[in-house]
Parts: sequence; structure tokens; C-alpha cells
Amino acid sequence: MAETYRTGRWLVHKRDSVDSTRNRVREGVSSLPDLSVVTARIQTEGRGRLGRIWVSPVGGLYFSILMKPSPPSEFAPCVSLLCSLILCREMEEQGFSPELKWPNDVILQGKKVAGVLAECGSSPCSWFSMGMGVNLNSVPDVPGRTHLPAGSWNTELGAEELLNRLLNRLDARWPDRNTNPLSGVVKDVSQRLWKLGEEVTITGAGEQIKGIVEGIGETGALILSTDSGERRFVSGELLTVQDES
Ligand code: BTN
Repeated sequence: MAETYRTGRWLVHKRDSVDSTRNRVREGVSSLPDLSVVTARIQTEGRGRLGRIWVSPVGGLYFSILMKPSPPSEFAPCVSLLCSLILCREMEEQGFSPELKWPNDVILQGKKVAGVLAECGSSPCSWFSMGMGVNLNSVPDVPGRTHLPAGSWNTELGAEELLNRLLNRLDARWPDRNTNPLSGVVKDVSQRLWKLGEEVTITGAGEQIKGIVEGIGETGALILSTDSGERRFVSGELLTVQDES
């Protein structure tokens, strides 16, 4: 049985252990109301981007939000960036200096502490889900080779308090799903970008392109200055020069 409570516009369903809050939301698309959140103390099958595992031990924050109808689908990457920015601001208020690794990782001292996964669909109705995982106070044991090591944010905020703060910031920053979530915060995201002003390689769709990180655009695209001029990317994975060797 899930315990529920309200915070801001959101109805939060608190679970103990689930396979994945993402699965719970996807299975609840018909039955859960608009602006629902599923959070759990543990996930046994947490999933990250590109089919990766999201290791989810006790102590971290794991949640997925549901919006129905979905915001315009082109806003999905913007919601992810906004949520990552919101987490950065929370961390900064407590004296930490996080960075945003495009498209949606939060990095602390070179280690990944949080990730976001946004999805939308049209069956059985128009829906949007965004899941976020934040490693709190202990570093999860992530199997396999990853470009960035896992880290954690050491804070006295518990997972529930952090969730409520993030949801309330999201309400304040993005009250209307039909407006661009990044409106007014493009600069705030750009100035926190990991490797800003440095050379990276972007991979994806069979291409590898080198360029200097310049910022993001209004649609959340990454702007790189390359040998052939400015280029904007809507998807891809960033690698540093060292990652390639
Ligand atoms: C990534 O960086 O690869 C995205 C990670 C997203 C993890 C969260 S935890 C809550 C929700 N449930 C999941 O199974 N995944 C997302």
C-alpha cells in the first residue's frame, strides 16, 4: 500500500520498494491523476538513459512524475534540464558547486550524482513522465565501465524533504506546461555546463564531432563551436579528450 501526501500541486505516492518508479508511473498512466509523483525508498530495477541500470540503494532519492496531458513533446529535453538546474540550485544553497553535464546529468567534483530520464507517449492518453535519481550520502556500486564515476551528495536533507523542495521549485519555475520550461533560465543552465569553454567530443547517430562547449539554446540543444562553425545538437553523449584515449 502506498502512503500519499500532497505538496504544492503534486500528489506524492510513497512506496517502500518498487522495481522502478518509472514502471509504476507508466503502468499507472490511466489510473493515476495528472500531477502524480511516485517515489520509493529502494528500486530493484532502476533504469537510466540508453538502457543503463540506475543503482538505487536506500538513502537516495528516486522519483517519477506524471503529467497528463503531456506538455508539447519538444519541451521534454527542456524539462530534464530545468529539473537538473533546480537540483543544482538546491545544492548551491547549501554551499556546493555542482555542474550540469548536458543533456541532463548533475556532476559534483567530477562525479555523477544525479540523472534524469524524460519520456512521453500518447497511449492510452497523452502522458509525460520524468524520473530523477539522486545519490545521497553514499556512492552506489555501479557495475561496468562508465565515462563518469558515480558520486554522491552529502547532505542532511532527507530524500523526502529534498523531493518536496524540488517539486515546489518546479511549480514556481514552470507553472504552465504549455510554456517553455527553459524560458528565462537558458543562461543559468549554460553557465553551469560541465566543460563550458572546453573541447569535447559529442557522439551519437554514428557521428563523432569535436567542438568547444558554448552553451544551450532555448530548446535545450547543446551549442558547440566546431571547425565548420556553430552546431546545435538535440541528442548525443559528451566525451572528454581523455575518455577517447
Ligand atoms: C540517467 O542518468 O541515466 C537517468 C537516470 C534516471 C534514474 C531515475 S530514478 C527514478 C526513475 N526510475 C528509474 O528507473 N529511473 C528514473
